Amino acid sequence: MAEGANGDLGPDGWPGQIWLEGRTLVHLLAEQTRPTHMPRGPAKRTGPGFLNPAMAPARTRSILLLNDALEHDWLVRPDQTIRALDALCATGVRIRRWRNEIPAHVQQRLRITANDLDQFALDWAKISHSTHPPVQNIEHEPEDDRYGKNSEQRFVNGLDFRNIDARIAMMENGYQWIDLDPFGSPVQFLDAALQGLSRTGVLEITATDTAALTGSSASSQARRYGAKGIVDVYAHDDAVRLLLATVATSAARLDKSITPLMALFDGHHVRISCLVKTSREKASKIGDMIGWRVREEDVPYRFVRHPTPEQVKRASGPLWVGPLWDKDVASRMTEEKVLELCQASPEEIEGMKTAGLEWSADDVEYSTRELRRSVRYISEAADLMSREHLLLNLDSLPRWAGIGGAPKLEKLIASILADGHCAARLPDLEPLLVTDAPFETVLQHVRKNSPLAE
Ligand SMILES: C[S@@+](CC[C@H](N)C(=O)[O-])C[C@H]1O[C@@H](n2cnc3c(N)ncnc32)[C@H](O)[C@@H]1O
Repeated sequence: MAEGANGDLGPDGWPGQIWLEGRTLVHLLAEQTRPTHMPRGPAKRTGPGFLNPAMAPARTRSILLLNDALEHDWLVRPDQTIRALDALCATGVRIRRWRNEIPAHVQQRLRITANDLDQFALDWAKISHSTHPPVQNIEHEPEDDRYGKNSEQRFVNGLDFRNIDARIAMMENGYQWIDLDPFGSPVQFLDAALQGLSRTGVLEITATDTAALTGSSASSQARRYGAKGIVDVYAHDDAVRLLLATVATSAARLDKSITPLMALFDGHHVRISCLVKTSREKASKIGDMIGWRVREEDVPYRFVRHPTPEQVKRASGPLWVGPLWDKDVASRMTEEKVLELCQASPEEIEGMKTAGLEWSADDVEYSTRELRRSVRYISEAADLMSREHLLLNLDSLPRWAGIGGAPKLEKLIASILADGHCAARLPDLEPLLVTDAPFETVLQHVRKNSPLAE
């Protein structure tokens, strides 16, 4: 054990090095390389207590989503509390960001529990939080849990820490919000998470087993998800839809239905957020939302309920074929909102420097860019992603259009919009376009705007 700022004993290696994620100071293990801003892909792990900086945008969106539920009262009534659990919290960066970055006036309505099986990571989370407490002091009385016993006093300045198996932690309390961020696949935690939610709740899931979800590892995909994939330009969208289908079918078994709020393939992981409701009637209609993507000759793909024997070779599924986002929630995920909630002010940064943060003007600039990137394109695509749309990869369009080069994506979108249809860019490393224009119309715009047509 090492000594913390307030004389508390911290885990070995404390205090490590200080880094800023959003508006929250975090301590990284000394041996972890100082992150670059906007890192992508799986990071090299350095043991328990490692923080993956590539997940920062997903944590940022989680703050926006939880804040949206509190600000717009779509989950509980304005006089009610949201009980939120980060079931696999590691060093607690997400929960600390929930506490620090969601505005003070709704904080009393937020009860946060953080759980991890790894004692070292949990000790790191506790001492980080007590060293850098939230601006507002949050006091909550311990609650009775589902089994009638009083929670022991485990609170650290508004956070309730648990050190048990996540499957037990999730079942303890009837949470309205559960975050599931395991190493690899979430399947082993899924049933407990669905059962741990109250009658209406939000389930946020990260899955990093993208080889299984996309089908590039066909055997793990078949074993874990009972699915068959095709690794082409639709593999990422299929991965998102496969995880949603898995959650929806597991939920239906428990008389619950899901409504996706946000679902993204983000570099090296899939992240989905769904509203889960107990409703036998809605759960019975799950078949309407599950189908297969069949690659076709006249259009890139069609969703079908069941592929014919002839179509199976060209089909991936079973997948969620319903809407992927909630229009209202996604349209409020704007760059203005992310800066309002998650950007540290110059005065805050000066105070943090006194606490040991080394932060240059470039860091300020790059971290602002990273915050903006966390939500870039989301609000513009909110309408299309919450209803039926066609997803197209720009790079594949010249072949379909029979021309040599693709137009610029922005130009193509402007051209389709000017023609009276909707079109938007999707947040992805690939140049992805969503539209409600018929495919033949899109091709006309591709030909018209091709660089070779000028
Ligand atoms: C990917 S990390 C979580 C990262 C964290 N959510 C964040 O944003 O920094 C997965 C965590 O799950 C914990 N874990 C693995 N199996 C567990 C289990 N059965 N119950 C509780 N925690 C578990 C590990 O100790 C690890 O800290």
